[in-house]
Amino acid sequence: MTDDHRDPVFGAIAAKRAIRTFAARPLEPEHLDRILRAGRHSGSSKNLQRWAFIVCRDREHLRQLAEVGPWAGHLAGAAIGVALVTPDPRGPDAPSSILFDLGQAAQNMMLAAWELGIGSVPATVYEQDLARRLLGYPADQHCEYLLSFGYPSDPTALTRPAVAGGRRDIGEMVREERW
Ligand SMILES: Cc1cc2nc3c(=O)[nH]c(=O)nc-3n(C[C@H](O)[C@H](O)[C@H](O)COP(=O)(O)O)c2cc1C
Repeated sequence: MTDDHRDPVFGAIAAKRAIRTFAARPLEPEHLDRILRAGRHSGSSKNLQRWAFIVCRDREHLRQLAEVGPWAGHLAGAAIGVALVTPDPRGPDAPSSILFDLGQAAQNMMLAAWELGIGSVPATVYEQDLARRLLGYPADQHCEYLLSFGYPSDPTALTRPAVAGGRRDIGEMVREERW
């Protein structure tokens, strides 16, 4: 099979781009609800669902959250920031499935958003103390990523072509039977 972008699931996976500049308008409430439900529906190891989603929409709060990492600036202009909170994945006994599961939930939210014409991108938290102070989650919880969501300032950006070399060649990443 070839890359047929008319198939809705594959088409979304292949065409979706990261969006970092957003229009000023807020998200329609039913759109936000859909995004959060897409996260809720995600599968997880042993169905443990070790995640909480903190929805941030206050502009000053978003500006402050934009300081949690060197590449988190897009949060300042997002309609919504969603902080993805889990048990601490860095603890000595923490299973790696915490972040595997969270990645699935995050991608489901971003794909559901894309279908509604909403752009999104992750922000990686480097300033852990700042994120904890701004988001107020309990001591045994941790925030490694937030997601920015918003209608893109340029709607064509939702499906702009990937930059040249944007994805490694399939032959480079797929092997048969053994490495
Ligand atoms: C785990 C993870 C962390 C990321 N962290 C950031 C980030 O801190 N800031 C940012 O602008 N983009 C971040 N991104 C977005 C990537 O840069 C983006 O997915 C990649 O460049 C591909 O973009 P494209 O789909 O538009 O080609 C992150 C993506 C992932 C999967």
